[in-house]
Amino acid sequence: MSEIITSDYRNDYYKVQMADEDFNRLSTFIYNELGIKMPDVKKVMLQSRLQKRLSELKIATFKEYIDFVFSKEGKTEEIIKMIDLVTTNKTDFFREPAHFDFLIETALPQLMDNNREHTNIKIWSAGCSSGEEPYTLAMVLKEFAHSHSGMDFEILATDLSTKILDKAVMAIYADDRITGVPYELKKKYFLKSKDPLNKTVRIVPELRSKISFKRLNFMDSQYSVEKEFDIVFCRNVLIYFDRETQQQVITKLASKLKPNGFFFLGHSESITNMNVPLRQIKPTIFRKI
Ligand SMILES: C[S@@+](CC[C@H](N)C(=O)[O-])C[C@H]1O[C@@H](n2cnc3c(N)ncnc32)[C@H](O)[C@@H]1O
Repeated sequence: MSEIITSDYRNDYYKVQMADEDFNRLSTFIYNELGIKMPDVKKVMLQSRLQKRLSELKIATFKEYIDFVFSKEGKTEEIIKMIDLVTTNKTDFFREPAHFDFLIETALPQLMDNNREHTNIKIWSAGCSSGEEPYTLAMVLKEFAHSHSGMDFEILATDLSTKILDKAVMAIYADDRITGVPYELKKKYFLKSKDPLNKTVRIVPELRSKISFKRLNFMDSQYSVEKEFDIVFCRNVLIYFDRETQQQVITKLASKLKPNGFFFLGHSESITNMNVPLRQIKPTIFRKI
């Protein structure tokens, strides 16, 4: 199939269509390098996400764009921009709230019992997107620490997309994004702008300092994280991978957990029939064997 250029009468600019060969080249790369499945039905989505980039670069065809992405020059910067455009970053504060209830009621008290005197709990938010998940964890842990002296915590938050990590580090959110955060926590942990017209809020420095952000690709052969973690959250990321890749990623993540550490998956993810060193204690909560 050859490339077709069609006129978009609404925006009055030209939209380039992606040929099947171009889609195959890109989807093979995305699968091999990022682990993300790209079946044929995703072609329209991929095309529409990348169209804007072609027009920014004033590139006329997808073939030309892909040649550029895979060129020596493109491999240093453009590939990162392309990855930012193809990843799905949907997230929320207190997403899947049962996990945070479980932390407060079960996981954190057990981790405290195991280490009586001083406990420094180490958590990894793997696939952290724009930061809502690690900041939710920081709020929950901070609250828990108030009533448990001798307890402290540190959070590592990683993602593939540099653009989304920049947003996470900034920690600035539209105020309608925090409607699900309990009122008491909003008051304590979010700063409002002095300008009443500015409808954004920012996470307080006290929480921001508890998290270090880092780029990490789950497809890397080894994960360069130094610590052994008590808790790993890897939620709503593995759904984009095939089963074999999921098993490999879970095995590598679990190798960074302490014995008996807690592992959390997203609501539609599972380890059924996988050979991984985890035992299930709730539908999406596991402990390291
Ligand atoms: C849908 S978000 C989930 C965010 C959060 N964990 C939650 O549940 O709300 C998925 C995140 O996984 C990241 N991701 C996708 N492929 C990845 C890979 N190969 N390595 C690391 N992160 C990846 C995306 O950039 C995206 O931010």
